[in-house]
Amino acid sequence: MNKTKIISFPDLQKAAKRQLKNIPDIREANKLASKRLKEYLAGKSYCLFTSGCQANVRDSEIIKAYLDNLNMKQIEDVNTASLILFNTCAIRENAETKIYGELGHLKPLALNDKDKIIGICGCMAQEEKPITYIKEKFPFVRLIFGTHNIDDIYSLLDEVIFNDERLIDVPSIEGSVVENYPSTRFEKYKAFVNIMYGCDNFCTYCIVPYTRGRQRSRSIESVVNEVISLKEQGYKEVTLLGQNVNAYGVDLKDENITFAKLLEEVAKTGIERVRFTTSHPAYFTLDVFDVMAKYPNIMKALHLPLQSGSDNILLRMNRHYTNEKYLYLVDELRKRIPDIYLTTDIIVGFPNETDEDFEKTIELCNKVKFDNAFTFIYSKRDGTPAAKMQDKISDKTKSERFSILQQTIDKYATINAQNMVNKTVEVLFDGVSKRDKNMISGYDNYFHLVHVKANPSIIGKILKVKIVSSHTYSLIGEICD
Ligand code: SAH
Ligand code: SF4
Ligand code: F3S
Repeated sequence: MNKTKIISFPDLQKAAKRQLKNIPDIREANKLASKRLKEYLAGKSYCLFTSGCQANVRDSEIIKAYLDNLNMKQIEDVNTASLILFNTCAIRENAETKIYGELGHLKPLALNDKDKIIGICGCMAQEEKPITYIKEKFPFVRLIFGTHNIDDIYSLLDEVIFNDERLIDVPSIEGSVVENYPSTRFEKYKAFVNIMYGCDNFCTYCIVPYTRGRQRSRSIESVVNEVISLKEQGYKEVTLLGQNVNAYGVDLKDENITFAKLLEEVAKTGIERVRFTTSHPAYFTLDVFDVMAKYPNIMKALHLPLQSGSDNILLRMNRHYTNEKYLYLVDELRKRIPDIYLTTDIIVGFPNETDEDFEKTIELCNKVKFDNAFTFIYSKRDGTPAAKMQDKISDKTKSERFSILQQTIDKYATINAQNMVNKTVEVLFDGVSKRDKNMISGYDNYFHLVHVKANPSIIGKILKVKIVSSHTYSLIGEICD
């Protein structure tokens, strides 16, 4: 068996320290690979599996570029791959259970081929318990690194291969702003652009601030330059990414650097479409709505996580807003953009959520009438404050609430989708429909999913479409002449 070398081990307590007192440190990404690593890996193939949010997808694009730059080939078949890497998520328990299942399946393969490298990275790698478990139960996992040291991938692989080691290197640090990562985009017309990393909010249920470090904003200039370069390469849509985009710039300690200002500068590049995620109601300022209303190339869509409609729960979640503030924001938004496509995230079953608390969530959904929502049953995350909260609510009650909530969301989504029939929208077509090979799919400028019967030659184009019928979460249209 290979010897295990631990350079750093995940440490949630260390990760919880709010250390970033000064403006974030900026550094260039490491890109150097040893000659022997290049020679060894050239022509070999790899599998890269990504779970979790857009932040992970973006990280996987970077990891892919590192591997492609060694002349490796990405494939789907784990049997023939020399390297199998899981870029993991830690947001809920089921994300982790799935990875254990995948590792279990790989065991015979790994035991059969000692040269195969199986690795874990991403948010789950930043947690003590899962990594302790993987270290003990899956000795064939030979490489574990975290979210802060993606750009050490070459030196880590070098050590694993040439020193025949199992290597764990997961620093729990506040993190830096790393610029000039290599990157291979997964999509041809739509691109994710990080505007900030980490999160300082410490919502009591959430693991993200521990797995991704303190909030670090990129400069407006770096973001705008990346968007301009994407536009020059033919990209039509950018999504600005951050865990709490409304707090963009706070860490840079310059009051002229705000999200509204950044959004406006990105819109001014003239890229055809701009959207952003995720917003936080506590930090939202109305100037962002003004910028959204002013620029036609900013998509008329907002994802505004609610989490709960009960002030009592919001307080215990450390969300820093009330039901009233949420409704005020929706009101101000609809004054400026009446037909905005509004979506949200809601958690049911937060520790000791009462029937009254849950009712308030449903009441708020009845008032707002969301176009769509991601709904979750609360999942206990070790190391977070909510994990220590007492909870007397049964699993049965939680699933009942979950299905009532989902029915409420579906009801308004269906009505809102029906209201789109006979309207004309502009759709960026990005691929063949997953369900029907004769249909081409894309999103309109409100972020509705639209399918049309057409030739694949329309992929990559933005075309006017008349909506002819609707489902709960998609629309069917016909291309206008
Ligand atoms: N930064 C974003 C998204 C965070 S993760 C935000 O603040 O909204 C995406 C969603 O996962 C969250 O909005 C929340 O609804 C859900 N989530 C996070 N932690 C969770 C947990 N422990 N259990 C269940 N859902 C959770
Ligand atoms: Fe998690 Fe809250 Fe940060 Fe979102 S804002 S990533 S829910 S801590
Ligand atoms: Fe998951 Fe990490 Fe994103 S925990 S949701 S991949 S920030």
